[in-house]
Parts: sequence; structure tokens; C-alpha cells
Amino acid sequence: MKALNVTRAETRRPVETRDQREDTRRLQLIEATVAVIGRRGYARMTLADVTDHARLSRGIANFYFKTKESLLLATLEHLTGEYAAAWRKALADAGPEAADRIDALIHSEFSPKVCRRDRVAAWFAFWGEARTRKAYARVCTTTDEQYFRAVVGLVEELTKETGTDIGAETIASGLCAMMDGFLHNYLLDPDGFDRAGARRACRVYLASLFPTAFRARIEGDERPRRPVRAKAKSAEAPSAAPANDAETLPAWTYRDAEFHALERERIFKRTWQLVAHVSELPGAGAYASLSVAGERAFVVRDGDGVPRAFHNTCRHRAACLAPADRGTCGRAIVCPYHGWTYGFDGRLMAVPAEPAFLGLDRADYGLVPLEHEVWQGFVFVRFGGDGPSVAAMMAPYATELAPYRLADMVPERPGVWSDTTDADWKTVMDNYLEGYHIPVGHPGLQRMFGGTYEVDAKDHGVARATSTLRPTPSSVWSERAYQRLLPEVVHLDEDRRRAWTYYSLFPNTAFNVLPHNVSFFQVLPLGPGRAMVRAAAYSLPDARPAMRAARWLGGRINHRVYLEDDRLVRSVQGGLGSTVYRGGLLSDKEICLRQFHGELRKRLPIARQAERPDGALKAS
Ligand code: FES
Repeated sequence: MKALNVTRAETRRPVETRDQREDTRRLQLIEATVAVIGRRGYARMTLADVTDHARLSRGIANFYFKTKESLLLATLEHLTGEYAAAWRKALADAGPEAADRIDALIHSEFSPKVCRRDRVAAWFAFWGEARTRKAYARVCTTTDEQYFRAVVGLVEELTKETGTDIGAETIASGLCAMMDGFLHNYLLDPDGFDRAGARRACRVYLASLFPTAFRARIEGDERPRRPVRAKAKSAEAPSAAPANDAETLPAWTYRDAEFHALERERIFKRTWQLVAHVSELPGAGAYASLSVAGERAFVVRDGDGVPRAFHNTCRHRAACLAPADRGTCGRAIVCPYHGWTYGFDGRLMAVPAEPAFLGLDRADYGLVPLEHEVWQGFVFVRFGGDGPSVAAMMAPYATELAPYRLADMVPERPGVWSDTTDADWKTVMDNYLEGYHIPVGHPGLQRMFGGTYEVDAKDHGVARATSTLRPTPSSVWSERAYQRLLPEVVHLDEDRRRAWTYYSLFPNTAFNVLPHNVSFFQVLPLGPGRAMVRAAAYSLPDARPAMRAARWLGGRINHRVYLEDDRLVRSVQGGLGSTVYRGGLLSDKEICLRQFHGELRKRLPIARQAERPDGALKAS
């Protein structure tokens, strides 16, 4: 029925007026120009590249822009207008103090909306040409001058308050030069660029001049984990990395039964495993379960509303106590085999025909509790091992995730979706952790996002990739409808309202954090070369028809992506058995995958061996 509703909504869409159609076409060509300059450079850009990218004919391009030069100038004006709108909005939304507004400018400068690879590449390309092209010089200089004057004005307000004798223009020049320098670094190494570090460096600079206004702003910042100045790439850069860092895990580790057994012991029984969301435990006795690596867990809400976690194994003869993914066990946990009954605190409360068990002391046969943690509404368990909590691991992203209110979400439908695949769990995670395959493997995502993903990896195997919907309408109706219908989600920061962001948590869990919903993605090992994928989507109540349509469309788009991925991972798993493939190379675009393989090698050093050693395997 939802499909029918959306179809009707689609057919009711007002027909574009001629003016609107022209605006859309012009914008398509301009966006394509930005993308092509970003990819091929200014000098090598051709009108044919642009029309191919925009999927428009050369005749249409000529109709809207008589010459390549007029298209380029319109593109530059579009970029400068977009940039000016972003910083002016940042100023308008900022607090009343001069420091608030300067800080807002810094934040805006490195926001994903402004500091985007295609934008920055095109902007620097135009600046390079401005030396010889007066029209470009006029646009670039005017834009820069307006921005610079705004910064000078704010710095003047600060200098009046503090009485520093350094001129406002000098200070503003220093700040603007820093920001330009960081944008240049970003252009050279977008994947290694640290936005928080760049913002922090600007604040540190200002705090050295205006400590009262800026010192407190530094203290809340995330410290950069790498030198803020990103290294320029050189032809030698990839080979300078340690050999293992640039190499995939060897193929044998994806197919070997003993290695798989080591993974179960050393990884899955020692890391956090997601069970459910707290909203799926609505009252006392509601439970959710998970089986992984030969262990079974369940989480049950007790009479005080507190989630408790136990091994899902009866102490009598090992029957499963909570057999469903999601369920309820009434007032007590009753084993379905012989009826041993446990309280929600795990105590063994009743045993049918108890006198027949000579010497039974119920206190010795309570359920075995499990370490568990509730992070932003998601309940995790850990069967053993130690290490940081989920909250500590995800701490680098806590601030940006907070507006999504994950803990307040509810399931979009009951239960958990799952599927099995003929691919190793690592093959599935490998695929999830890199966006390098998107332009070829996921035409839909490419149409919607243009292949521009910002990626970063943190300590403890946590990483993130994010991209923002392109304004250019997709040529496919469902994607185009999603782009058009997705309503404003006002509780999100503006730069997240059209962003799809993927967070991964070592070893096998990820969160797809989208404007219309959030879903987890979890890969469970079933054997060497065989895995199960579990997923469920959650969202905040929002009855707007456009949101309902966006959720349906988002689900449709993501299901297609899953099918595409499943075909790819099965294909890879087949290739991993080939006698000619022993391992591969990882590019700079696959940094999350490098990190993932690095974490696996740390836990299982045997994975550093290019060939499987003879005999029984040991972890090291
Ligand atoms: Fe649970 Fe017998 S196995 S009561």
C-alpha cells in the first residue's frame, strides 16, 4: 500500500514550469562542471565531459551556455554565491558576541557543506586562472574582499574589548590565511584531513590574542589525533606506508576453518555485540536475543525497567530460554524444556519436581550474567575480554550524533531483518568499510551522492564515512523522488539534513545514520566463507506524508544497494579461493578498511602471514 501511495504522490507532482525546468538544467550543467573540474582539473575539462556527467546533450549545453567560457563563469558565480550564503547564514545564526560570530565562521569554513572536495578543487582551480582572466579575478576578489571585511569588522569589535595593539586587519589576515591553508591541505589529502583539528588550530590562534573569548572554546574541542597539517601526497606516498598497512589480509584467512575458530575466540567473544534497541524492550519481561560465535545472549527488562543481560542457556540442560529475536517471557523466565523458572535478576526461583534433584541448591544455578552496556539506546553485550566501552569507542562522534536522538527512536517495523550469504564475515565488512566501489558498484548512490565521501578512522576500530545528497536530480524516479521529498529534519544541524553517514564499530557493527532513519548493520560469522547479516531501522515519530514517503523510498534504495553489495561480496569470496589470488592492495580511499585489517592483525598476528602456515594454527 505504501508503494501505491508513493506512486500516487509522484503522479500528483506539479509539472515544472518552463522557468523551473531551465533553472534545473542550468544547475545540472553547473554541478557537472564543478564535478568535472574536481576530477580532471580546470585545464583538462571539456564541454563533452560536462554534458556526459550531466547526462544532457551537447545541444542543451549550448542552448543554456553559448560558450564553455560562459558556463565556467556561471559556475564560478554559483560557487561564490553558495559560499557567501553559507558564511552569511553562519553569522546570522550565531550568538551576539563577536567571538561567537568568528567562531561560527570558522565552523562554517570547515563544515562538510563548504569544505567539500569538489567545491574546494574547483575554487582553487578558478583562483589559479584568475591571474590571467579578469572576469574570474573580479568575482574571486569581490567574494574574498567581502569575507575579509566581515572578519576584520568582527576582529575590530574584539580588539576594542581587549585593547590589543595589533591591528584588526593583521589579525584577520592571519586567520584567513590559516583557513585558506587548511583548505589547501584538505585538497591535497581529503581523507587524511582533520576538520576538528583545523577548527581547533584557528581557535588556538585567536586564543593567543583573545584568551578570554577563545580559550574556553578550545577546551571543549576534540584534540586532533594526527598532525593537523596533512602531508602532501607524492608518488612515493603509498609505498612509504608499512607493507601490511597497504595490503589486504591474505586470502587464506577468509576461507580457513581454524582461522575462523580463532576469530570466534579472539574477536567475537571479546568484543561488543549489539543485541537490540531499548525501545524493543517495552516493559518488564520483554526480551531480545542474539547468537554469535557459539554463544547465546539475551537481554530482558526487569521489574524496575532496567535491561539485564544473561547467557541464553538454561542451567539444567542448556536449553535456549529466550528463543525469539524479540519476545516476552511474562512474569518470569521459564525454560521451555522442563520449566525451570528464573527471575529477571537471574535467580533460579522454581524447579518442577525439585525434591528429585538431590542436594540441589538453587543459589548455585542462577543464570550467568553478561557484561552489557546501553549506548544511545542500543544494548550491547560482551561475552569476555576487556577494553573500552562502546561509549568510549564512539566518543569522537558523540557530539555529532547527539542531535539524532538515537535513544528516543522506535523500530520502524517489528523484529530484525536478516539474510545469510556465501561470503566470509570479513568480506562483508570489507565491502561495508570502503566507498571506493560506489561509483562502479552502486550507480544509484553515485547518482544521488556523486561519489564524494569524507572518511575518517579513529582509535579502537571506529570509523565514519559521510556524503551529502547532490542537488542534481537523479535520472531514476525513486532516487529523484527521495531527493525531492525528503523533508527538513529541523533537529539536525543544517549540514546533516541531507547527509547519509555510516559509522562502523569494530569488528562487525555499523550504523547507517540518515536524515529519515537510523539502522544498524551487523555481520555474524556462520563459518569460514559464510555469514549472516542482521539489520533493523529506527526513527523518531514523524507522520508527515513526505517523511513517510522518504522512508519508504530510502528503504527501497538501500535494499537495492544491499543486493548489489551481496552480489559483489559473493563474487569476491569466490575469487579468494583462486590459486592466483593471495592478497590485494588497499588505496588511500580505503583507510577504514586498512584500519579494520590492522585491528584484525593486532588481535590475530598470524594474519600477517601471506601463506597459511602448515599444521595447527595459533593466533600468533
Ligand atoms: Fe531448562 Fe531443563 S533444560 S529446564
